[in-house]
Amino acid sequence: MKKIIVTIDGWSSTGKSTLARQLARALGYIYVDSGAMYRAITLYFLRNHVDWTDKKEVKKALKEINIEFQNNPPTELSEVYLNGENVEYVIRDLVVAEKVSDIAAIKEVREFAVAQQQKMGEKKGIVMDGRDIGTVVFPRAELKIFMTADSSVRVERRFKELFEKNPNITIEEIKSNLEMRDYIDSHREISPLKKARDSMLLDNTRLTEKEQFQKAMEWIEKKLSIR
Ligand code: CDP
Repeated sequence: MKKIIVTIDGWSSTGKSTLARQLARALGYIYVDSGAMYRAITLYFLRNHVDWTDKKEVKKALKEINIEFQNNPPTELSEVYLNGENVEYVIRDLVVAEKVSDIAAIKEVREFAVAQQQKMGEKKGIVMDGRDIGTVVFPRAELKIFMTADSSVRVERRFKELFEKNPNITIEEIKSNLEMRDYIDSHREISPLKKARDSMLLDNTRLTEKEQFQKAMEWIEKKLSIR
């Protein structure tokens, strides 16, 4: 069967990764969490005190960064590695989330990440989630999904996720981080978050994981049957 590219973009904490992972597993496709790449770059910049307002420093730092995804056999999840170190857990920290949107708005950072993302999709058979995947990374993808959900639902979901790791975290911190990232991501000059005209809107405020998966699979099956 011919393979396609599925892109999932949308607002912060709308469950893009959950859906993308489920679809990739059902189809036997590769799953790439493009946000994890921006988070890993941010982690590197923070750890190495890179002044990201200085283009020269940014360029130099990017030369030192190698990002890879590897499958973790026990969980069967694709996890991100920064220069050989598994950083899947640490990049989810609020410290990284506080800075990631500023760093993801830098031209050189985006060029670095997008080039790798496009390479990963050369053979198709890929599900990638992020902010600009359907608009910039794979503008000719066969199926584009744009995810949204009510803000209170998104805050609640992310709170549950992060509270398990850090019981000191507050709802207010999460809410302001999501609002800040959504604002920066949708107002930046390069590749701002926006719905691609040819994308399918998926509002999962009132959908279960199973329901949203079924809906997306219907769209995919339609695309595959036309080919
Ligand atoms: O999981 P969540 O939706 O909260 O965020 P993420 O997918 O891990 O992405 C973290 C941040 O990376 C976003 O807020 C964006 O600033 C940036 N990002 C981006 O600019 N372009 C992408 N394709 C993916 C993420």
